[in-house]
Amino acid sequence: MEEKKKRIFSGIQPSGELTLGSYMGAIKNWVDLQDDYDCLYCIVDMHAITVRQDPATLRRRSVNQLAQYIACGLDPQKNIMFIQSHVPQHAELGWVLGCYTQFGELSRMTHADNITSGLFTYPVLMAADILLYQTDLVPVGEDQKQHVELCRDIAQRFNGVYGDTFTLPEPFIPKMGARVMSLGDPTSKMSKSDPDGCVYMMDKPEDIMRKFKRAVTDCDACVKFDKENKPGISNLLSIYCAATGKTVAEAEFEFAGQGYGIFKPAVGESVVELLRPIREESERIMADKAYLEGIYKEGASRAQYLANKTLSRVYRKIGFAAR
Ligand code: TRP
Repeated sequence: MEEKKKRIFSGIQPSGELTLGSYMGAIKNWVDLQDDYDCLYCIVDMHAITVRQDPATLRRRSVNQLAQYIACGLDPQKNIMFIQSHVPQHAELGWVLGCYTQFGELSRMTHADNITSGLFTYPVLMAADILLYQTDLVPVGEDQKQHVELCRDIAQRFNGVYGDTFTLPEPFIPKMGARVMSLGDPTSKMSKSDPDGCVYMMDKPEDIMRKFKRAVTDCDACVKFDKENKPGISNLLSIYCAATGKTVAEAEFEFAGQGYGIFKPAVGESVVELLRPIREESERIMADKAYLEGIYKEGASRAQYLANKTLSRVYRKIGFAAR
């Protein structure tokens, strides 16, 4: 008999346009996982409103993000792809889990001073996302690991009181997860909120080329991977290798003695060619609103079916009267 596939859940907030970092650091890995795992890929709009959003922009981005997931190669037949707010069980389980989370645990999460209670309890909603689906593995970046750990703690506590209810999830940091750094400041992560250091998935070729030609480097004009001393060049090398499939050694050899005036546009070209088909396909899918609606409705209904199984067990165990 065929072994049961492990379940994966991950999501990205529609709080900004998707970037080259979203693709190389997350979505590309999701595509590689879709055949071997049972995957749910979510557009976490409820997380996005922990920071003020413009309503029309949020609405547009949530749906466009789905188009971009598909254009990157995520197959809506193989994966459950949906918008978080379409599955109200996330909010419902989030409330319950909040009653099993200590204030102190949330205070220890790194965040700014002046925050809403929604932002403060954000890790609880994330735990609900994960636990609703009996998730085994959660592909996330290094910065999100603490949230998956907290999710495990909450699940363990709940299971301890009520007996096995939730699968304990593990963070799943992929080996080849290229962490793409800002082109303007290669010591910080490429961020949607830094338009100059950031390449967006939907950027036009000329914008991509301009951003790469302006990328911060250093003054020794040698294309060599050295994260400590040459963060800019190392970042460009990582991007080039992720875009072309070449190894760092191959890339260093290719640009030996060539200077940054040749290297930077070459990296730009490799990204233009990587993103071109994705952008074109996204544009095509974004124009087909009926198709997208079909996908997200189907995704939400498949997700709800699974979510309800967990939520009704939870409600029974904690003593809510049957409906
Ligand atoms: N917090 C994640 C981020 O900002 C997004 C997220 C929300 C998520 N729920 C999740 C990621 C569940 C993985 C699993 O990047």
